[in-house]
Amino acid sequence: MQSDLEITEASSVDVSSILEINQQYLDSNDEEGFLVVPYYKSELDQVISSTESTIFLAKSSSAGIVGYAKVSCNFQTDVLKGMAWNTVEDKQTVAAILDSDFIYIAQVAVRKDVLRQGIASQLYTHIENLNTPIIVFVAWVPIRNMASFHFHESRKYRKVGVLSRPMFGRFEDYQSLCYVHDYSAR
Ligand SMILES: CC(C)(COP(=O)(O)OP(=O)(O)OC[C@H]1O[C@@H](n2cnc3c(N)ncnc32)[C@H](O)[C@@H]1OP(=O)(O)O)[C@@H](O)C(=O)NCCC(=O)NCCS
Repeated sequence: MQSDLEITEASSVDVSSILEINQQYLDSNDEEGFLVVPYYKSELDQVISSTESTIFLAKSSSAGIVGYAKVSCNFQTDVLKGMAWNTVEDKQTVAAILDSDFIYIAQVAVRKDVLRQGIASQLYTHIENLNTPIIVFVAWVPIRNMASFHFHESRKYRKVGVLSRPMFGRFEDYQSLCYVHDYSAR
């Protein structure tokens, strides 16, 4: 699978495949990971035509679209008011990242039948090669996303703190781990 994979940017013809993968994880368990936010066709059409967000696809010639990562250069910094930082340095690092060019990975998912074949790794390598600091969140309360946790830890992302939100997607009293990938992590 890994060798016949290419990373491309999504266009409107890809929306139904992205929605199918998104739906696989909306009531999934933590071992394979899960997603908190459902996507809708109208929203994805808008994302694809916007200059602030991109959806990268992992496409295989044999299996079609096997994964996606939705990334944005926009992040509601107000949300960080609910953040408990590991250290003052971490808070400063994130402020510096958000103050310049950065990539926020809003959602990544790989089709269930092809997990653990390096597909998310290839999507991330592509995004990391854009040479821009990255910020990403991993769901932790009420359910730990252990697949995502292990994935980001394995790529040496740095945990900078814990974000609490009264409501996020389908969860109340939600908490997530905030990870960064900046140049010091390379
Ligand atoms: C998290 C996710 C994107 C990983 O995709 P993937 O293509 O299976 O990941 P990779 O094959 O590139 O994994 C690379 C490494 O990450 C770690 N990893 C990935 N999934 C793991 C899991 N379920 N358990 C433990 N470690 C895991 C491993 O170290 C793995 O290397 P290995 O397989 O050689 O041990 C996938 O599980 C997924 O789509 N989950 C549902 C959606 C989700 O949770 N998204 C993240 C939140 S937005």
